[in-house]
Amino acid sequence: MPLQLRSLIRPDATLELSLAEVPMPEPASPDEVVVRVEAAPLNPSDLGLLFGGADMTKAQASGSAERPVVTAPIAPPVMAAMAARVGQSMPVGNEGAGTVVAAGSSPAAQALLGRKVAALGGAMYSEYRAVPVAQCLPLPEGATAADGASCFVNPLTALGMVDTMRNEGYGALVHTVGASNLGQMLNRICLKDGVGLVNIVRKPEQAALLKSQGAQHIVDSSAPDFQAALTDAIAATGAMLAFDAIGGGRLAGQILLAMEAALARQPGQEYSRYGSSTHKQVYIYGSLDRGPIELPRGFGMAWGVGGWLLFPFLQKVGPARVQQLKQRVADELTTTFASHYTKELTMAQALSLDAIAGYGKMATGEKVLVRPAAG
Ligand SMILES: NC(=O)c1ccc[n+]([C@@H]2O[C@H](COP(=O)([O-])OP(=O)(O)OC[C@H]3O[C@@H](n4cnc5c(N)ncnc54)[C@H](OP(=O)(O)O)[C@@H]3O)[C@@H](O)[C@H]2O)c1
Repeated sequence: MPLQLRSLIRPDATLELSLAEVPMPEPASPDEVVVRVEAAPLNPSDLGLLFGGADMTKAQASGSAERPVVTAPIAPPVMAAMAARVGQSMPVGNEGAGTVVAAGSSPAAQALLGRKVAALGGAMYSEYRAVPVAQCLPLPEGATAADGASCFVNPLTALGMVDTMRNEGYGALVHTVGASNLGQMLNRICLKDGVGLVNIVRKPEQAALLKSQGAQHIVDSSAPDFQAALTDAIAATGAMLAFDAIGGGRLAGQILLAMEAALARQPGQEYSRYGSSTHKQVYIYGSLDRGPIELPRGFGMAWGVGGWLLFPFLQKVGPARVQQLKQRVADELTTTFASHYTKELTMAQALSLDAIAGYGKMATGEKVLVRPAAG
């Protein structure tokens, strides 16, 4: 029987990762296809579900090389937040790509038989996965499963940021974790579309990487002149909208301060004790730092900090716009939307303690590609 990677939180506050045998899926409706999943990325959003908030530094391995089992303790406050999933063995993996090996009777499903497709639908760390045709993206001729594995989450999120910017009346963007896989994609989109982008990074080598990729505004949060350099870059681009994947800590507040300072520099600005009337917005779209978001004051009263997620965005813009965005991803799959992986692992290899310690860091340029079914 095919294997599927599972994440279970046991009632004794222990996370258990394992491979489970599951029945071979079949198309459950005329509009479903079965994909042999040949490649699926391990994204930060997958790690949240995979690790369930467990302390992976205390993880222990058991089982065999083919059927590894990893366990790790979960602290009491985290356990309380996980109440809804205790006892449920959950499949993981938001997206992936592979070959359609069975198809329902509809013409749309039949047309995909034998084709390489990318799919979004969860449970992609599975050898085989049944998905509705609407959740598939046929890959261009010649594209491999690895080319298409990360077709949805990061590309659509980066495109969604630019759409959100336009829909909310802004003309340029600030982005934190500029050198992340997503950040590099966003930089390529903005360069191609002529959108001003301020890339925030936290290490000089990340700044050098983005510079080599043509980024025009890069600021390093570890540099002593960070606040001044950020203000200069925001003044140069006029970016009053930021997307922040870090979340916790001081960065969102530093961005708002820099926006306000950049606005104050504009010619003809009159002093107001309420600050500038231009609305400054930071969307937190990740949780790389799970600590509290610290906001100083000093950026007036026209500002907002809120959450941003891909799926509500897709719902908001509607199917016609989503189809256009997906088509752009397919058209620019190996250029604008190319992802790079440092390692390829089978599902069993992905459950080794060494591998977990590596991809668990979510470090720049260390993305892992899981190969549930080779081919
Ligand atoms: N809201 C949504 O719908 C949505 C959709 C897609 C992605 N995302 C988010 O987008 C982010 C990037 O995803 P990705 O796949 O591009 O990630 P990635 O390639 O794995 O890169 C992660 C980046 O985050 C940096 N980082 C990690 N921990 C950090 C911290 N505490 N403070 C500052 N930087 C930190 C790393 O830099 P170092 O090398 O310096 O550690 C690295 O550049 C993730 O947070 C993900 O959850 C959100």
